[in-house]
This record gives sequence, C-alpha cells and structure tokens, in this order.
Amino acid sequence: MDRRRFTRICGGLLTGAAALHARAMAQSPYRTSALHFDDGAPVTLGALSEGEAWIFSYPYKTTPCFLVRLSTSAPKQGAWPGGVDDDQSVVAFSAICSHKMSHPAKPITHISYRDTPVSWYTKEGEKQTRAGVISCCSERSVYDPALGAAVLSGPAPVPLAAISLDVNERGELSATGSHGPDQYEKFLQAFGFRLALEYGISDPRTLVEEQTQTVKAANFSAQQVLC
Ligand code: FES
Repeated sequence: MDRRRFTRICGGLLTGAAALHARAMAQSPYRTSALHFDDGAPVTLGALSEGEAWIFSYPYKTTPCFLVRLSTSAPKQGAWPGGVDDDQSVVAFSAICSHKMSHPAKPITHISYRDTPVSWYTKEGEKQTRAGVISCCSERSVYDPALGAAVLSGPAPVPLAAISLDVNERGELSATGSHGPDQYEKFLQAFGFRLALEYGISDPRTLVEEQTQTVKAANFSAQQVLC
C-alpha cells in the first residue's frame, strides 16, 4: 500500500472514531440540575412516596418531566440507566407525549402518571387494566414507566424520553441527562410563545440552571383530564 493511501485510510478511521465519540457525547448535551421543592428544600429519595408523581422542568425551563416512585423496580433499558434508589423504583421521564406532544400545562393536562387502575387495549385487541402507567388521554397512548416508558397502547410511536437521575450521599436527586428520542425542539417551535408566557420568561429555550423546581403533579395543572 502506498503512503498516500495509508494516510488517507488512517485519516478516515480517525474521522469515524471522532464522529462516534461526538455522537456518544451528543446523547445528552444537557447539564446536571438539582431538583428542589418550591420551598427551596432539595428533593430527596426519602421525600418521595410510592405512587406520587411530581413535575420538574428539564432540560429547558419550559419542558416538563415526571418524577415518580413506582411500586416496582425499573431496570436499565437501552441508554437509560434505569431507576434510582436501592430498588431502582424512582424514575423520571419527559412529560411530552411522543405522539402529538400533549403535555402538562398550567391550566390543564391530558397526560398523567396514574396510581389507580387504567384500562387500554393491546394491538391484538385484548383489554388490559392496571395502575402504575403514564396515560395520555389526548388519543389514549399508555406508557410503562417501569420499562423505560415503553408504549403499551395507542398511537405514540416511541417511548417518552428518559431522564437520568443521580443521587448524592444525602439522598438528594439531580437530573443528569435526557436519553432516547425527544420532542424538545419540535415542542419549543410549536408552543414556545405560549410557554414563555406561562412560565413568565422571555426565551422559552432557556435551559435549566443548577437547580430546577419540582412540584406535585396534582398541583401543577389546574385541571387533570383522566381517561
Ligand atoms: S398526544 Fe398523547 S396520545 Fe396523542
């Protein structure tokens, strides 16, 4: 092999490796942000009760996510590391439905974590009923938060984006990244103007800072549509 060809092949390999590295880094370009309640106290594992859902903003101040302590363990799925705490029961997902971006808004929400039984039909037409799912009543997509928010039913094409969590030695939680297909850009383009007004900020693309506010899902929206 002549020297020029050898150099070209090596250059190609290096470019490929750099691209792979860049892609790995690009999986979650968002900063770590510590979860805090609206009274300023850090969100700790001990403060989360089974079946209770919370909403926090991540990775933008205007993009809501669910935080839930499930009654079951949520093991690693793909790039998502799974739930935290000893039993991996504390999980977080983007609350923007992967179908048509229904999301918890301050006046109303059609998408919620449900700790009471919800019914749906599988693709085979079989009726299923159980609690512990995320249900979007816009067109009835159902997600399983114990399985990386896999789609159980409805028109949602992909799972909800998973938010990875970190826990420090005091049991305090931080959001560390977003994994899997997300809707953020499309969401901000579609709803940015309204979101800016709702969140009282001038730029809806403002990323969260070192801390992000966490509120009970039951208090986040004035009205919850359940189906
Ligand atoms: S927007 Fe959620 S099912 Fe259509």
